[in-house]
This record gives sequence, C-alpha cells and structure tokens, in this order.
Amino acid sequence: MPTIPPNVRGAVITGWGTALPPKVITNHDLEQTIDTTDEWITERTGIKERRVGGTTVGLSVESGRAAIEMSGVDPASIDALVLATTTPDRCVPASSATVQHELGLRCGAFDINAACSGFVYGLVQAHGLIAMGAKKVLVIGTDTLARITDWDDRNTAILFADGSGAVVLEAVEGHGQLLGWDLDADGSAERFLYADIGDTIHMDGKEVFRRAVRIMVDSATKSMQHAGVTADDIALVVPHQANVRIIQSACDKLGIPMERAATVLHRTGNTSSASIPLALADALDAGRVRQGDLVLLVGFGAGMTAASAILQWGGGTDSAVLA
Ligand code: COA
Repeated sequence: MPTIPPNVRGAVITGWGTALPPKVITNHDLEQTIDTTDEWITERTGIKERRVGGTTVGLSVESGRAAIEMSGVDPASIDALVLATTTPDRCVPASSATVQHELGLRCGAFDINAACSGFVYGLVQAHGLIAMGAKKVLVIGTDTLARITDWDDRNTAILFADGSGAVVLEAVEGHGQLLGWDLDADGSAERFLYADIGDTIHMDGKEVFRRAVRIMVDSATKSMQHAGVTADDIALVVPHQANVRIIQSACDKLGIPMERAATVLHRTGNTSSASIPLALADALDAGRVRQGDLVLLVGFGAGMTAASAILQWGGGTDSAVLA
C-alpha cells in the first residue's frame, strides 16, 4: 500500500463549484413511463428526483468556472486540468481539451475514466502533479449518464442522472490536506456493470450492491490505515451517491454514524463522477466542515473500481498557499 513520502509538496482545496441541469425527473414522472412507484424507489434507493440534460463539456465549464471564481485564481495560472468522466461528449478529442479552452486555461488537460470512483482518482492524480511541481490544478467530475441510460429499463432508469462538481487545488508550504489514499480496481467484475460503445448501461443490481459495500469498506479502511486515523476521527464521510442503503451499510461496517455522511442523492440520483464533489460541495456550503476536520471521500463504480482519500480540511497549521 503506497504511503505519502515525508516532505512531499502538499495541496489544499481553495474553491469548489457545481452544476446540475435544469430538467428535473421525479419518481412520480417515472411512474408514468415504467412499472415502478415513488414508494419503491424511495425505500430501495433513497432517490426522490434526478436532473438530466446538458453536455459533459457544458456542465464541466459551469462547475469549473464556479470553482475558479471561488478560489480567486487566475485561470491562466492553472497548471493542469483533470476531468473525471465516463461519458465524454466525443471519442476524440477528450472533453477536457474543450473545457480547457472554454475556461481560458493555458495548461495540459486530460480525461480520466474510473466510472463512479473517477473524482477521487482525479483528486489523487492532481496531488501527484502538485508533488511534481504544479501549483494549481483544477479537478472536475462530470457525467451525463442520461444519454447512456435505457429509460424503459426500470432496473437502471430509477438510478442514473447528470451533474458536475469541481475543485481548485493549490500547492501549500506544508504537508497539505491529503493524509492517505487508496485506488483499487477489479476487472474480473466488469460484467456486473457496463455499457458497450453506442449501447446503454447493463447492471446486475444485487451483485453491484453486494460488492459495492465490500469494496468501499476495504478502500476506506486502507486509506484510514495509511493516514494513521480511525473511524472515530472522521468528521464527515462523503460517499459515492448510488443508493442510501449502500451508504448506510458501508457506514455501519466502518463504524461511522450515518449523521456524519454527506448525502445529496435524494435530489440528484447517481451522477457517477460528479456525485462525490456534489455531496462535498453541499456539505461545505452547509458549514458542516471546519478547519482541521478529517473528511473521508470514498467511491466505487464500474470496473469495478474503488477509491478513497482522507483529507484534513485546510491542511495543517503550516499550510500557507504558495504564490
Ligand atoms: N420498481 C418497482 N419494483 C421493482 C423495480 C422498480 N424499479 N425494480 C425491481 N423491482 C422488483 C423486482 O422485480 C422484485 O420483485 P419480486 O420480489 O416480486 O421478484 C423486487 O422489486 C426486488 O427486486 P430486487 O432486484 O431484489 O431489488 P433490490 O432491493 O436489489 O434493489 C436496486 C434494486 C437496483 C435498487 C439495488 O440492487 C441497487 O441499488 N444496486 C446497486 C446499484 C448501483 O449502485 N449501481 C451503480 C453503481 S455505481
């Protein structure tokens, strides 16, 4: 398990932003088109409504711009753009290149596809770039899953949706915010959740549920061990927003009370790469995180992948942002 070397250049999040498309589809709307009920969806998933529409580039530009504005950084000073997405607008070029241009960035830009673990993969990657000398990195998680969802399939149509969330990372003097991280993948589980090119999502919901809880707990445990912290130290857990019962079950197994979990899925559905930054931004905007708090981000997704990170909010006392 990789540990963070001592004296490595760290980073802190200095701005965040989100974007959700305006079109809302409620569970009652779905009752009109597929054989389901609001009661069933709410009880089995925790989702009440979801947002659909827009493009991966359009949503990314909106959330990315909001994060840049909050951080106050000059877009031209950003050293890299990492866009986590499973649903790029085109095969070529990468959506990140178009987002880079539309935001007025002058830096390298690349997409990462690790499904619903993508944002945490991207955040860890961004810390690596900062350790290698970058000073400012924009990390965006965006998905437009509505385009690859079969809206006549009640197995998947109740779950998936669109959205975007972004953060600006800035290099600091001290060790910064990242205390521990873990990235996992198990390609032998690909058959349980996949979409072929040009096709829609196919899912074995029960098997994904079972594995999701296990791999979230495994990954979060590794990150906590790596950071030298325990579940009692975690002030806020920001889990992938797939199903409230998955979140509840993982929290129970980790020994983290559900009150310490950030959840937005009742109004967003499963937005894949966007779900963790959307839930993180919601908790931050609600004032749920204070300087020094430990935040556990933990995701899982198709692959199957899993990823987690422990962030000490604001970094240590020596975490002054580098000019
Ligand atoms: N509306 C109403 N009834 C439904 C339904 C729906 N949308 N989908 C299934 N049912 C029915 C089934 O036919 C079954 O009926 P039966 O008992 O008469 O046979 C019953 O509800 C239970 O179905 P089941 O498939 O066992 O439900 P579940 O509790 O496993 O919930 C999921 C289904 C998809 C909500 C759940 O398995 C899940 O969330 N899995 C994880 C999916 C996920 O997170 N994917 C993304 C990963 S990034």
